[in-house]
Amino acid sequence: MRDLAPSTSYDATRLRVAGYFDGTATRVWERLTSDAPVSRIRQTVREGRDTMRALMLGQLPEDLRGARVLDAGCGTGAGAAALAARGAEVVAIDISPKLVGIAEARLPEGLRGRVDFRAGDMLDPALGTFDAVLAMDSLIYYTRPDLEAALTELSARAGRVVFTVAPRTPLLMGMWHIGRVFPRADRSPVMIPQDWRRMQVPGLSRVGRVSRGFYISECLKVAA
Ligand SMILES: C[S@@+](CC[C@H](N)C(=O)[O-])C[C@H]1O[C@@H](n2cnc3c(N)ncnc32)[C@H](O)[C@@H]1O
Repeated sequence: MRDLAPSTSYDATRLRVAGYFDGTATRVWERLTSDAPVSRIRQTVREGRDTMRALMLGQLPEDLRGARVLDAGCGTGAGAAALAARGAEVVAIDISPKLVGIAEARLPEGLRGRVDFRAGDMLDPALGTFDAVLAMDSLIYYTRPDLEAALTELSARAGRVVFTVAPRTPLLMGMWHIGRVFPRADRSPVMIPQDWRRMQVPGLSRVGRVSRGFYISECLKVAA
């Protein structure tokens, strides 16, 4: 794991995101990603996220036996479980140890041993190389330069990186402006909407957008 002192803007964002998901948001996130009843608004987010996960997984071969895949920012582990169910050897990493604990506890018995759970930074070079990286909604808080640098690092270690960004829609831009009004100490991490056409990453292409109620997310990929 990288040095915890926030010496760069990437580190500062990562620390804020870790504090949020490992603190106030753990329970909300645990519930949102379960089958427990949620508000209608959160239900649209849940449905949108299920659709996005399927879209992302559709970018990888159905049969993943023999493939090493990184679930980068695994949260409560739905992506890691789906990858393992297709036969992949999965490394599931998240900066929130609490979410990693939930992901580990939720992994179906039959998939135990196929997923190596880690608490830490997805860019840790010690994780090694991969056939593919899946980063669902985990890079949405980073500035464009930090996102570009992260993708460059990840794509140097993996044949394919499938990830999401928040697109620059009027709704998401409005939320971003509102988020910036709060004093820094009170802020949950704010998504930074991106114009993917302006991103400087070789091999980048657009996969598609999922828009369901309050869930709006764009799937992109970097392929060698
Ligand atoms: C919105 S959640 C999505 C979780 C999961 N991918 C999913 O779709 O259910 C974003 C996750 O990314 C994680 N995250 C953000 N930056 C990270 C980093 N640099 N390394 C590892 N995890 C990170 C957060 O802790 C959080 O659990």
